[in-house]
Amino acid sequence: MTGSQPGRLFPSTSIAGFAFIALFAALPAAAQQKSKLPEGPGRATTEKLCGSCHGTNIFVNRRESREGWSGVVEDMIQRGAKGDDDQWGEVVDYLSEHLSKSTPVARVNVNTADEKDLAAGLGLPDSQAAAIVKYREQNGKFKTIDDLLKVPGIKAAAVQSKKGSIDF
Ligand code: HEC
Repeated sequence: MTGSQPGRLFPSTSIAGFAFIALFAALPAAAQQKSKLPEGPGRATTEKLCGSCHGTNIFVNRRESREGWSGVVEDMIQRGAKGDDDQWGEVVDYLSEHLSKSTPVARVNVNTADEKDLAAGLGLPDSQAAAIVKYREQNGKFKTIDDLLKVPGIKAAAVQSKKGSIDF
């Protein structure tokens, strides 16, 4: 099969090839900006297995014991996360070590943080972080947790669980 009709293949694949290269050139910068996960063995696997559905912002400020993280991982596997046993082992090791109960959580000021920092700081999907920014622009500064809960789509439990690291 090798070498058959290379001349015919070339023109149609060159455009796709160009798009491919353009995409990959843009990837490293985007990936660097997006991930706030601490450096460490297993980070790349964690980004790959845990970042495809919702991005890693949703859990970067979450703190759990090893048991807690195993539970989260099982939960995500049930939701459709794909990986093999070795990879899940690596992910649980990474999470338990680098996002443990003793890892400090960054504080987030809900009146000044941008969308990205709100998502990471509060463990929210990007859509909800965007809703906070929009609400703030339309209604002025938040003064209390109750103000924050008025933002459409915000889950009270998620905000309450983070209130110790929220500044106004
Ligand atoms: C197949 C898609 C998928 C993958 C892969 C995935 N998740 Fe999720 N995850 C979800 C969905 C769906 C939700 C619910 C989102 C929501 O509530 O808005 C969620 C929610 C979460 C939450 C918030 C849960 C809560 O109740 O507060 C955490 C934390 C989380 N995921 C962590 C992880 C971690 C860690 C991994 C890697 C082990 C992972 N996810 C991989 C689909 C996925």
